[in-house]
Amino acid sequence: MVNRAWLGATALAVAFVKAQSTCEVVESQTGISMLMPLTIDYSNEQSEYWSTSCGGLKPTCILAPSTADEVAAIVSVLRNNNETFAIKSGGHNPNNWFASVNDGPLISTKNLNEVIFDPATETVRVGPGNRWDDVAAELDGTGYTVVGGRIGNVGVGGYLLGGGLSFMSTQYGWGANSILEYTLVLANASIITVSESSHPDIYMALKGGGNNFGIVTSYLLQAYPQGDVWGGNLVYDATPENTAALLEAVRVFTENYPDDKAGIIMTAERTLATLADIWVIFLYYNGPEPPSGVFEGFTAVPHSIDTTKTQSMNSLLSANNWAVIKGSVYTIGTESMPLPTGADAPEVMQSIYDHWVNVSDTVKFVPGLVASIAFQPLPKQIARLAKEKGGDMLDLDDDINRIVIELDYSFWFDSDYAKIDTTMRDTYEGFQSLVKGYQQSGSLPSDVYLPLFQNDCFYPQDYFGRLRPEKLALAKKVQADVDPNGLWRDRTGGFKIPA
Ligand SMILES: Cc1cc2nc3c(=O)[nH]c(=O)nc-3n(C[C@H](O)[C@H](O)[C@H](O)COP(=O)(O)OP(=O)(O)OC[C@H]3O[C@@H](n4cnc5c(N)ncnc54)[C@H](O)[C@@H]3O)c2cc1C
Ligand SMILES: *[C@@H]1O[C@H](CO)[C@@H](O)[C@H](O)[C@H]1NC(C)=O
Ligand SMILES: *[C@@H]1O[C@H](CO)[C@@H](O)[C@H](O)[C@H]1NC(C)=O
Ligand SMILES: *[C@@H]1O[C@H](CO)[C@@H](O)[C@H](O)[C@H]1NC(C)=O
Repeated sequence: MVNRAWLGATALAVAFVKAQSTCEVVESQTGISMLMPLTIDYSNEQSEYWSTSCGGLKPTCILAPSTADEVAAIVSVLRNNNETFAIKSGGHNPNNWFASVNDGPLISTKNLNEVIFDPATETVRVGPGNRWDDVAAELDGTGYTVVGGRIGNVGVGGYLLGGGLSFMSTQYGWGANSILEYTLVLANASIITVSESSHPDIYMALKGGGNNFGIVTSYLLQAYPQGDVWGGNLVYDATPENTAALLEAVRVFTENYPDDKAGIIMTAERTLATLADIWVIFLYYNGPEPPSGVFEGFTAVPHSIDTTKTQSMNSLLSANNWAVIKGSVYTIGTESMPLPTGADAPEVMQSIYDHWVNVSDTVKFVPGLVASIAFQPLPKQIARLAKEKGGDMLDLDDDINRIVIELDYSFWFDSDYAKIDTTMRDTYEGFQSLVKGYQQSGSLPSDVYLPLFQNDCFYPQDYFGRLRPEKLALAKKVQADVDPNGLWRDRTGGFKIPA
């Protein structure tokens, strides 16, 4: 049966023939840029994933639209077939099928790469095809910045849809809290501008709602004044003394948050083949020098490397790219915990670390294995700022300080994925049991809201299920409005809204 219909999404008319795939239709009917297997451009694009496992999935073709109209034209074709597809921005999400696909079209946002700064309105229009270092390079010298990634290579598109934790979150909230407007291509191929005034529910749902509501083709971001910053890394041997001192330092730092302009990621790394256990800390201060004392808890611990210096935001984000090492399969996972404050707080922190060491030890013979854990402060002021700026899906209360634990396991061969999959679950489920145990024993406050941070979630983690019921209900309502036939729900990967 040949069902021929002309679907003029906007300017482009795209023919749909039922038997034809999206790639075939786009190739024969449009001028949209398209990369085919066995070409250099296709291979290059497939290497632009953090995890080689994502790059190992082979799309039928890679479509690289350069306007919202072209995205809409592609959606017009997709809604008339039943192919699995994916949308990819920076490709940093390591969960397979989230921004990668086998046997179906991949939509790369790489040509949606505008960065337009408007000093008059103090805003920046940013396409999802950028990485944060592209944005920083463009803003370099303007005296302004946006609230974005802490490592330059991360993509704008996925980061902002997952909330976005920034070095400047204690000054301005989540990355998503500074989005003024989204240009969104809906499942019915119409293009809308989403703002607080035009579509308040969709606007809220997009702030941490992932890829469930449409394809974002541009973000309008609030810009903030920015001069030189200070930052870099400190590297330590993970001796028992250093570990105890650093765990206490990050705990005290989170509790007393000494300066809203200060940001930190505290990570431990184990390269199990060489038994190298280290701590690597990313420090940031939004000014040329931190006032003395701000990072004292960390600088006082003996370290072997110190790269901190005064520099531009652009230089800092690029320098932090050393942390993006390609060529391995990556997995990511997370858990959230209330900050321990009682007499046994050091013991609580230490047990989280010890559990990670214990579980990671069980996979030390997996080739290429590197395990890492990050302790990310989520102090009350982020919650307060997020609320002041209109809120988001995470909807944190500012009653308690929290820590977001992030975990990665990387390894060389996809054939070890199943084993590491189990290890990842064992690690974060173990954290959750430890937290519950400490809540029962009174060492941690109970009855607290502990949502998961989407950008760090492993694919089976229940991001939506851990949100407040009102926010989950909002996500369902918006989904029913904008995706009645399940285009994004059933045919793309990502964190999906439970029925
Ligand atoms: C080295 C490293 C450092 C990181 N640092 C931070 C950090 O500081 N703060 C933080 O919050 N997170 C951080 N992350 C996590 C990161 O934010 C997430 O992995 C995020 O998903 C990456 O965004 P991306 O655009 O690169 O991802 P992609 O893998 O391209 O996309 C991720 C998801 O978003 C969807 N998506 C992307 N673009 C669009 C679009 N335009 N429209 C609709 N859906 C879209 C994709 O379909 C996919 O489901 C880091 C990750 C890595 C690997
Ligand atoms: C679409 O594909 C999915 C999975 O491949 C299948 O379960 C579903 O029945 C298909 N729907 C139609 C309408 O063909
Ligand atoms: C880690 O393993 C050691 C040795 O088996 C054990 O004593 C300790 O309780 C474990 N710690 C945690 C937090 O699981
Ligand atoms: C597309 O979907 C939106 C959201 O449901 C709706 O408001 C709009 O009317 C639809 N447009 C068309 C052309 O059907």
